[in-house]
Amino acid sequence: GVDVKKLLADTGLVTLDPGFVNTAACSSAITYIDGDAGILRYRGYSIEQLAERSNFLEVSYLLIYGELPTKTELDEFTEKVQRHTLLHEDLKRFFDGFPRDAHPMPVLSSAVSALSTFYQDSLNPLDPEQVEISTIRLLAKLPTIAAYAYKKSVGQPFLYPDNSHGLVENFLRMTFGLPAEPYDVDPALVKALDLLFVLHADHEQNCSTSTVRLVGSSEANLFASISAGINALFGPLHGGANQAVLEMLEGIHKDGGDVDTFVNRVKNKEAGVKLMGFGHRVYKNYDPRAAIVKRTADEVLGKLGVNDPLLDIAMKLEERALSDDYFVQRKLYPNVDFYTGLIYKAMGFPTRMFTVLFALGRLPGWIAQWREMINDPVRKIGRPRQLYTGYTEREFVAIDER
Ligand code: ACO
Repeated sequence: GVDVKKLLADTGLVTLDPGFVNTAACSSAITYIDGDAGILRYRGYSIEQLAERSNFLEVSYLLIYGELPTKTELDEFTEKVQRHTLLHEDLKRFFDGFPRDAHPMPVLSSAVSALSTFYQDSLNPLDPEQVEISTIRLLAKLPTIAAYAYKKSVGQPFLYPDNSHGLVENFLRMTFGLPAEPYDVDPALVKALDLLFVLHADHEQNCSTSTVRLVGSSEANLFASISAGINALFGPLHGGANQAVLEMLEGIHKDGGDVDTFVNRVKNKEAGVKLMGFGHRVYKNYDPRAAIVKRTADEVLGKLGVNDPLLDIAMKLEERALSDDYFVQRKLYPNVDFYTGLIYKAMGFPTRMFTVLFALGRLPGWIAQWREMINDPVRKIGRPRQLYTGYTEREFVAIDER
């Protein structure tokens, strides 16, 4: 019964924009998206070129510092990141307290939040030196934390990082290796995971990035802000979608693989039934990342000799949806999450680790956006307004008279 139009008129110059569909909260020079044309660029470089010619650490440097590094700059950066991969032994013990079946996302965000207790100098986010060292620590330690979260969930011993390996290789080693057995990381897996991290590295003001900026706008430090971003990413409408896609595909497979029946349930808007991995707030065209991921899924599954019936179901679903009026009219296309889960699964990751992998990829973007926010000359604490729709003034009623 609330007349929102009247409320807006009464409140004066306040806009009501649920979901911030048309409201920019900042200006940014990091990532450009043209959702109608399906274009994504980091610092002006197209995602296609970066996917083909760059790598995750170089892209991290580009996002955070604004330019592609020279060879010396990249070597120095790589060396610094590789030197900080160890976790404090006390932080390592932190993992023992979680239940064995804990979802690794809250474990990840808790451990990142706990970094503030080990590096208390980081509590002053206005000190550029602290911001710099926190940046390096996060990039170096998040893969170690993620691998420990995995090891905890399968009851295996933690493996210390071995800094003779690159970041992604080290992560795979710590995740799938065992102390008693030599573990040779397949270079094809390293390359594929590195590429997926590049594709996830930034996506301008999405839900988790906006969270990182908003928390940081109160001058909370980088660790606290990134921890909040990880929690925002956890939801199935955002980063949790990669897990939800695989669960959807498994459900369809279990029911006999009938894509038509499932699509009809989506179109009938059955409660809780969505075509997960489809649709995007900004892309009203094919998500350029999804196009690259689709090719990679084919390649990786082929190389690993994996013949996953779920890939077939995914391709049929896509074909079916893209030729259906419901999806065409609403401009719903596959997003980055539609095919990533199939690759992660083929690599051996359990479904619950998928969103953790998204977080590892998105980290440099969160850091770059936080740093841009803290250095913004027109920085202000984020504090949205509201349209109040509750009671006007009421007289208090004593408890025995209610
Ligand atoms: N399946 C079925 N219908 C959909 C889907 C979908 N995946 N996505 C949107 N729609 C429909 C909506 O029901 C709505 O229809 P209506 O006009 O008849 O009411 C219309 O398309 C517009 O959708 P909105 O929900 O208004 O779009 P919004 O921009 O708010 O949401 C979102 C975008 C959250 C991504 C949505 O498309 C969705 O829930 N997708 C599935 C989850 C997903 O894949 N998330 C990952 C996003 S990408 C990322 O974070 C990496």
